[in-house]
Amino acid sequence: MQIDIRNLSFAYGHKTIINGLSHTINPGDYLVIQGKNGSGKSTLIKCLLGINSVKNGMIFLDDDDINTFNKWTKFGYVSQNFDSFNYEFPLTVQELLKFSSITKASEHNYLMLLDQMGILDIVNDNVNSLSGGQLQRVFIVKAMLNDPEVLILDEPTASIDKQNSEFFYKTVDELNKQGKTIILITHTDSIENLNYTHILNMGLDLTTTITTKPIEGDEES
Ligand SMILES: Nc1ncnc2c1ncn2[C@@H]1O[C@H](COP(=O)(O)OP(=O)(O)O)[C@@H](O)[C@H]1O
Ligand SMILES: [Mg+2]
Repeated sequence: MQIDIRNLSFAYGHKTIINGLSHTINPGDYLVIQGKNGSGKSTLIKCLLGINSVKNGMIFLDDDDINTFNKWTKFGYVSQNFDSFNYEFPLTVQELLKFSSITKASEHNYLMLLDQMGILDIVNDNVNSLSGGQLQRVFIVKAMLNDPEVLILDEPTASIDKQNSEFFYKTVDELNKQGKTIILITHTDSIENLNYTHILNMGLDLTTTITTKPIEGDEES
């Protein structure tokens, strides 16, 4: 899917958060969004997902205006606060993933994805009993269930250890190589080792800059 952001502005009440952003995310791109806490990274993501409604500027998802777009299963999303829930009733990993499946195919898909993530052994565990790293992998599986074209990850390594975050970045690379568009938000991680294609930097002063990663071997020698 192509995501075409045209002169997007967004405010909560009178407080402007995004001011005139234009950028096109092409199929297969790996966009890293960086910026300090409060610079509007999550707000932008919520605009792209139709959670925040777009009134100033436009976003086109393929050829559809976002305000009439309805193929939301093309997006997989792991929100910033994926680990802050606590289910009131006992729920196993398997049950969580079955509830999130929209087709028989995606229902069968979850075992394969859990296996790929190295967590097939916790399929019958209660979600409230998982470690941060296990929970993160479960939520990535959940986001991947319906075979999305675009995977959006908001500060995915904030609450996991180094070993899990290395595993996580490898997984993201593989998914990107398989053709998924990746949008990854981070405010702390060093990104030199990531195979991203573009960086969007958001400033607290509403400025935005977009840089394209130079193709390796293309630098001056
Ligand atoms: N629902 C909301 N209502 C009002 N203000 C909000 C809301 N969500 C976020 N903000 C404010 O918008 C600014 C940007 O927030 P956010 O997009 O979460 O930043 P980031 O993800 O870059 O840390 C912050 O000042 C935050 O307090
Ligand atoms: Mg955020």
